[in-house]
Amino acid sequence: MLLAGKKGIIFGALDNNSIAWKIAERAHQEGASIVLSNAPVALRMGTINQLAEKCNAPVIGADATNMEDLENLVRKAMEHFGGGFDFVLHSIGMSPNVRKKRDYTNLNYAYLTQTLDISAISLHKILQTCYQLDAINEWGSVVGLSYIAAQRTFPGYGDMADAKAALESIARSFGYHYGIKNKVRVNTISQSPTATTAGTGIKGFDDFFDYAQKMSPLGNASADACADYCISLFSDLTRMVTMQNLFHDGGFSNMGLSPLFLDK
Ligand SMILES: NC(=O)c1ccc[n+]([C@@H]2O[C@H](COP(=O)([O-])OP(=O)(O)OC[C@H]3O[C@@H](n4cnc5c(N)ncnc54)[C@H](O)[C@@H]3O)[C@@H](O)[C@H]2O)c1
Repeated sequence: MLLAGKKGIIFGALDNNSIAWKIAERAHQEGASIVLSNAPVALRMGTINQLAEKCNAPVIGADATNMEDLENLVRKAMEHFGGGFDFVLHSIGMSPNVRKKRDYTNLNYAYLTQTLDISAISLHKILQTCYQLDAINEWGSVVGLSYIAAQRTFPGYGDMADAKAALESIARSFGYHYGIKNKVRVNTISQSPTATTAGTGIKGFDDFFDYAQKMSPLGNASADACADYCISLFSDLTRMVTMQNLFHDGGFSNMGLSPLFLDK
């Protein structure tokens, strides 16, 4: 019961492959009360109501790029919880350029703006909304999900690489301000390739996955393992960790070359 008595908002559970879905299940198991949120279109297409039932959680729709939606969500969550909450998961990513298979050297800039807004600036919008409504309790924890393409080049990842670099920067910058204001910590978890709707939408996902599997001494980290790690970051055991990008990747990020890969 690492999260007994804690309350939080979980963004981004689309279906039971979503990393946010696993995190919601684990948070519930560990004693947390949660509110689930996703974009209105995802609420219509996905299966979030099954998760809501399982976790006894209300679902409040919000397009994470829309400040009015976010304010409505945060206010309603505070009403539901009877005050502030303790954690937020940002598990949101989408690139129209990647979806429409536009190469990095042929980006549509209107799409790029959407990629950055949905996948990175939304973290700022969520944090700013919470900050201004004083919604996150002292020693609260905010986690966003990132990928190593923020630091190294994976050509098939397209403009999502730029979004992840911005996401990690926003976590660092807001981590300072929210730490000073209310001892709220803000971190990103840089997760291994994981077979989800967003993951498998990346060109060459199977190659990414197999390559990382062979290069990582522990193998790729699963969505369930990511959920465990995330729970530790929402818990009181990691109170002094903030403004970090934390690799959760079986060791991949510190490898040069692996004989397992050469022997393939
Ligand atoms: N799957 C991977 O290989 C992998 C690896 C590292 C990091 N990540 C990151 O993990 C996070 C979760 O992705 P996932 O792999 O679980 O895939 P997913 O497709 O299940 O989740 C992505 C979520 O983003 C939501 N979303 C998209 N636009 C939105 C908007 N405007 N407002 C609110 N929500 C919106 C979708 O509805 C969906 O629930 C993403 O940030 C992704 O980049 C994924």
